[in-house]
Amino acid sequence: MSDKASSEQHKSPRASRVMMTESVLPGDGNPLGTAFGGRIAQWIDIAAAVACQRHCRRRVVTASMDDLHFLLPIRVGMIVELRAQVNAAFRTSMEAGVRIESEDPLTGERRHVCSAFLTFVAQDEHGQPVEVPPLVLENDEDRRRAHEAGERRSLRLARARVRKERLLAELAGQKR
Ligand SMILES: CC(C)(COP(=O)(O)OP(=O)(O)OC[C@H]1O[C@@H](n2cnc3c(N)ncnc32)[C@H](O)[C@@H]1OP(=O)(O)O)[C@@H](O)C(=O)NCCC(=O)NCCS
Repeated sequence: MSDKASSEQHKSPRASRVMMTESVLPGDGNPLGTAFGGRIAQWIDIAAAVACQRHCRRRVVTASMDDLHFLLPIRVGMIVELRAQVNAAFRTSMEAGVRIESEDPLTGERRHVCSAFLTFVAQDEHGQPVEVPPLVLENDEDRRRAHEAGERRSLRLARARVRKERLLAELAGQKR
């Protein structure tokens, strides 16, 4: 089997890994001289989407992005490194985790500034959800991440159900 064919079939979290490096330019910042949170969220979304596409080789849409907590500011001029991988594959959806670190380009000092968990749904060419391949867990770390992803999924879907019901009730009220 060629290297390409074997890597296509080996659907481990490792095979989905993404490393994305960005430089925070003035256009990415706010008037305080730190990175605009929305720009960081955009990079997170892209890194996670690529990890999920590497896993399922389908087009994917963002179903949800869990709470984002920016623990430390990132100054304009810093380097931002995003590492993403698929933590768990469910039926048609996948959870990707993203770790974001800032790096001072002059000193090399690195800081973990944020972590994020996103869910993507794989779609076929008609935009219908389609099953994704199972994730092959290779070690204890993979198993821990997959287990925690399963716990987050239960909470996330319960919250999504409540929000959807509220939205539908609001829409029904507007039609009356
Ligand atoms: C995400 C989306 C495809 C789900 O559609 P849906 O009609 O709820 O489809 P289903 O009920 O068949 O669910 C499909 C999968 O999405 C998951 N899902 C649905 N809502 C979710 C949410 N809020 N968070 C996480 N997963 C969610 C379901 O659990 C299911 O996964 P599973 O098959 O692995 O169990 C649909 O809501 C959508 O298209 N949203 C817009 C996506 C988009 O445009 N994103 C870009 C930003 S605007």
